[in-house]
Amino acid sequence: MLFTTIVLSALATSTLAFPFKEFEKRNGGHKSNDPQASLPECNADPVACRCPADSFYQTSSSYSFWPVHASEITRLTVNFLDAAWLGTTPERTEGNGTAVGAKRYLRTELPDSQKAELVMEELTELTLRPDGGYYSKFRMGDAPFWYEKKTPGKKGLIAGSWDNIDVRDINGMAYMLWDIHVCFMDLFDLSGFHESAMNNLTSILKAEGKIPQGAATIGPITF
Ligand SMILES: *[C@@H]1O[C@H](CO)[C@@H](O)[C@H](O)[C@H]1NC(C)=O
Ligand SMILES: *[C@@H]1O[C@H](CO)[C@@H](O)[C@H](O)[C@H]1NC(C)=O
Repeated sequence: MLFTTIVLSALATSTLAFPFKEFEKRNGGHKSNDPQASLPECNADPVACRCPADSFYQTSSSYSFWPVHASEITRLTVNFLDAAWLGTTPERTEGNGTAVGAKRYLRTELPDSQKAELVMEELTELTLRPDGGYYSKFRMGDAPFWYEKKTPGKKGLIAGSWDNIDVRDINGMAYMLWDIHVCFMDLFDLSGFHESAMNNLTSILKAEGKIPQGAATIGPITF
């Protein structure tokens, strides 16, 4: 490496600078190197992707197992327009909560936001499973979403957000996986939110007497 550098410097400063220029050209020049430029723009696909300017990629996956039938978790979570298990109620809804195209408008605190913002989410896929579980996809519907921050003149950006929820029966236990990837300007506690929602489900099932005495719940676990 050092040897190459010395040789190249020698060439560059000599009248034989020509080969050095050729090398630079082939290399694309250090300053313009952007390895991420070849990635696709982020969308619902769970692949390596490039977030739009002013935002960066964050991802999180959490799961839990409950000692109940998968249909119990489906009952509490499958209706996209009923967000009680998320500890909230949509301010406005559109469509049918168990049909693709349903929209919910949630009043949400965003990082350093001046006020709670109304964020729209849209159900884009829902498949009910024969085992009582389901698979769903939803996304933030009105991205890119700019908002006012507390600091005057400063703006925040949510450039995209894509969720997958997978509920199924595994050996007689209900399993839920919640996976998300986002393009946000600020760091967001995605796993904290998902774990709190899963803990809510545990509380609701306990309050309903659905969890048998002494039966173990596993998770939430984030990986
Ligand atoms: C869910 O948890 C939130 C706090 O994380 C709480 O405000 C809310 O009341 C809980 N909802 C239910 C239905 O347990
Ligand atoms: C909502 O959609 C589901 C599935 O497409 C359907 O079975 C149900 O009847 C619809 N509910 C209403 C209120 O339209």
